[in-house]
Amino acid sequence: MQLECFIFGVITFLITGAQCEEFEVLAHAGSQAVLPCKCSYSFPITPVIIWSNAKKGTVWRKQKSGLQFWGSSWLQKGIQRAQCPHFKFEKGDYSLQINNVQEEDGGIYTCRVEHGVLVTETVVTLRIIKVSFVPSVAIRGEDVSIRCDVTPKPNGATVQWMLNYSPFVPQNAVSSTSISSQSVMFQTARVKLAGIWTCVFSYKGKEERVSANLTVKGIIQPSEDNAKVYAAVGSAVTLPCVYSPGLNPANPTWEKLKPEYIFKPVPDRLPASFSASSPSSQQPWDKSASLKEVGFEDAGRYRCSGTIKGQRLSQNMQLVTAKINSTIPSKKKGSVTLTCQLSDTSEVTDYEWVHVVYDYNGTKSIGSIQKGKTLSISKESEENRGEWTCRFYGKEGILGNVTHHIQLMGGLSGQKSSGVSRNTAAIVSLSFLLLVLLLVLAQMYKNHQRRKRIFQYPALETIVHTISNEREERERNRVKK
Ligand SMILES: *[C@@H]1O[C@H](CO)[C@@H](O)[C@H](O)[C@H]1NC(C)=O
Ligand SMILES: *[C@@H]1O[C@H](CO)[C@@H](O)[C@H](O)[C@H]1NC(C)=O
Ligand SMILES: *[C@@H]1O[C@H](CO)[C@@H](O)[C@H](O)[C@H]1NC(C)=O
Ligand SMILES: *[C@@H]1O[C@H](CO)[C@@H](O)[C@H](O)[C@H]1NC(C)=O
Repeated sequence: MQLECFIFGVITFLITGAQCEEFEVLAHAGSQAVLPCKCSYSFPITPVIIWSNAKKGTVWRKQKSGLQFWGSSWLQKGIQRAQCPHFKFEKGDYSLQINNVQEEDGGIYTCRVEHGVLVTETVVTLRIIKVSFVPSVAIRGEDVSIRCDVTPKPNGATVQWMLNYSPFVPQNAVSSTSISSQSVMFQTARVKLAGIWTCVFSYKGKEERVSANLTVKGIIQPSEDNAKVYAAVGSAVTLPCVYSPGLNPANPTWEKLKPEYIFKPVPDRLPASFSASSPSSQQPWDKSASLKEVGFEDAGRYRCSGTIKGQRLSQNMQLVTAKINSTIPSKKKGSVTLTCQLSDTSEVTDYEWVHVVYDYNGTKSIGSIQKGKTLSISKESEENRGEWTCRFYGKEGILGNVTHHIQLMGGLSGQKSSGVSRNTAAIVSLSFLLLVLLLVLAQMYKNHQRRKRIFQYPALETIVHTISNEREERERNRVKK
């Protein structure tokens, strides 16, 4: 077998002078690359092996004597980045391993194996793939370029992108027109662009996937523009405006926008119960606002804005208010119709009425549940007393609720007294009431009598006073004469 190989090698050598093979190796920045160099035949004599790089010169050289030389540029912090595992030499494998490959390692490498006059050369093109973002941390609303750089650049390669492991189709992306047009995308950073970006690089039947994590900073809550916030009339609500942790927006502002100007926002008056802070906003990056008591007319578009690195960021949201409209139908006396009313019903798919009952201990429990936007109930029935909550649902679940309290119309109508003990108790309390009334009356009579006596004296005093006044006047007249 060995002999056959040897003969084959010699023949090949005689024909071509030197056997030459070519390989393509793709590796992502930071990983380990293995550059193949294998002899399909082995010799009893140890060969001379030279690994060299087109730019950097010799990487590694092993002489016949076994002495090894390393290129100085492959030393990193006292450790050789490039190495050839010895245990594979027996099998004629002289593959070169490069750890922590960088873009500048990309290029053409040659492995030269010399068995005396028999020379075998393997040419390996190492391409380094790197995914990067400019700027490395994107600010929401600003442009970010997502790059997949391959060094050296190949011809006829294809690049596809994946975001969070699903294919990404660039929308309104402006691709650059350079040679690497396929590998660079410009996107306006929305929060949706945050995540793991994977560059799927295919070249000559080989595929390499390289990923990197893009962080987008800005207003992270609400995460979508024009997100709806639901609030029941009379309740308190928080309008969220949370920036990425660590950000401290300058000049944060809140505005309510006039509904009629959709494209060019015009500020409106903020509601009276509006407060530019919320119970949750403890951190400098939480600029949430709150309404202490929502009014139905407070519904509408709100906008929070702030400046990050000279860039004005803003996020719109929509406050949707909910109330219960209770009407008494003219036909049915003693009944009431409750209607769940929302300032914006575009997201609402379903309504549901829930009867909340409290027992004597004040423990809450949920009674009957009825579907529909309106509810007709009897106001006189004891069972309907308590809270009626309208829950409204969207496609993704519950959006909110609003509660109405039912007071009984008939007062005592619900109290069905039974048994003697109750009656006696009533009689006793009634007698007691009468007694108290009598006592009060007696006291009032006493007071009246006393006041009468007091008034006798002021009357006397007045008479005395008048007499003295008359006398004084008479004396004055006499002096004048
Ligand atoms: C990506 O980065 C963000 C922010 O640094 C981090 O929260 C998230 O966990 C990272 N994702 C992965 C998959 O590493
Ligand atoms: C209550 O609902 C009725 C019927 O839907 C409507 O005519 C009335 O205007 C509503 N009242 C209020 C205050 O919205
Ligand atoms: C009310 O509370 C008392 C004592 O805490 C308990 O024994 C009783 O079962 C409660 N009643 C109801 C209806 O929960
Ligand atoms: C109504 O919403 C509030 C706040 O989300 C919740 O605590 C309450 O349980 C809800 N009530 C009903 C009857 O669903």
